[in-house]
Formats: sequence, C-alpha cells, structure tokens
Amino acid sequence: MRILGISGSLRSGSYNTQALRACNVFVPEGSVLEIATLHDIPLYNADVQAEGFPENVVALSERVVAADAVLICSPEYNFSVPGVLKNVLDWLSRVDTKPLASKPTAIMGASTGRLGTARMQYHLRQILVSFDASLINKPEVMISGASTAFNEDGSFADERTVSVVQSLLQALVKHTEMLKRGRSAA
Ligand SMILES: Cc1cc2nc3c(=O)[nH]c(=O)nc-3n(C[C@H](O)[C@H](O)[C@H](O)COP(=O)(O)O)c2cc1C
Repeated sequence: MRILGISGSLRSGSYNTQALRACNVFVPEGSVLEIATLHDIPLYNADVQAEGFPENVVALSERVVAADAVLICSPEYNFSVPGVLKNVLDWLSRVDTKPLASKPTAIMGASTGRLGTARMQYHLRQILVSFDASLINKPEVMISGASTAFNEDGSFADERTVSVVQSLLQALVKHTEMLKRGRSAA
C-alpha cells in the first residue's frame, strides 16, 4: 500500500512535516509512506490553467492518483487552513482525473498552540467533502505544543500522541483495504 503524506507547511523545520516522518514507524510492513511538500506550486489562476496545468501541479496530482491513501498533516493558520494547502487543493479540484475523489484520506495536524489545529481540521474536512474524498472520521490527531512534541531523534515524545497516531494509521489502512476489497468484488 502506498500512502502519500502531504504537509501543509513549507517551513524547513516544520513540525507537520516532522510529524509525517514520525508516522513512518506506524505504517504496516510492505507499505510505504512517501512525503510530498508543496513547494513551487504557483497561485491558482484560471488563465494559467487555460494554458496548461503547471508541471508541479501535474506531478503532485499524479502522485495522489498513484497513492492508495492520503494523509494530510497541516498547521493551523489564523484558525483555518494555510493558504498554501488551500491553493493546492484548488488546483487539484480542477484536474480532470479528480485525484482525491473516493481517495481514502486522513487528516492530522500539529500546532504550537493549545488546540492542536482543531479549527483547521474542521475547515479542511469541509473542503474535502467537495472533493468527495473518503475521509477517516476518527481518531482525531491534534498535536498541541508542537515545539515539545518530538524527541531528538524525531519520534513523538508523548505516549498519547504515539497511541492516537498509530490508531489513525491503522484506521486509514483498514479503510483503504476495505474499499479495495469492495472495488474488486464489484
Ligand atoms: C500565519 C500564521 C498563523 C498562525 N495561526 C495559528 C493558529 O490560528 N492557531 C495555532 O494553533 N497556531 C497558529 N500559528 C502557529 C503555528 O502553529 C506554528 O507556527 C507551527 O509551528 C506551524 O507549523 P509548522 O511547524 O509545520 O510550520 C500560526 C503561525 C503562522 C505563521
């Protein structure tokens, strides 16, 4: 199984990109978690689209299509989804292949604040409904106090975070397998 992790932060020391890396140990044997960052994606512009989708949008879209499941890990900016992530979603919504339609998709996030991206996650869920993504509802992974959430080796510092992230990955894998079985039986 191929899981594509998408980080909503461009920051080189991003806690969210780090959280995706730390998820690697929870991926079942035989599966892979690749990480995509959203660098060098232009601002959505229908005039640009009319001349052809930008190379990096096409590349990301192809990675989403090729993935069995998607795991989005994003910061919260001003109580909502960072513009960088929303911009990419706007591009993906215009691609003919509808890369996120029916795609098993899980959401998580890390913030330095106390609510651990809760408000961003509910906005992101709403946006992903418009894609008809196959969203994992529970557990919710909201990592607060991100500056102390990781050990020096990059792993999650807190046992409760370990447990909830592990459960989210298990739920994503189970849901993806279930959908695959359903599709091959149909
Ligand atoms: C523009 C901006 C807006 C922010 N708004 C929020 C917010 O609404 N809630 C919150 O918990 N943290 C907020 N933060 C702090 C982020 O949680 C923090 O910068 C975090 O490290 C960003 O994630 P990253 O490390 O993956 O880049 C904001 C940060 C920035 C730069």
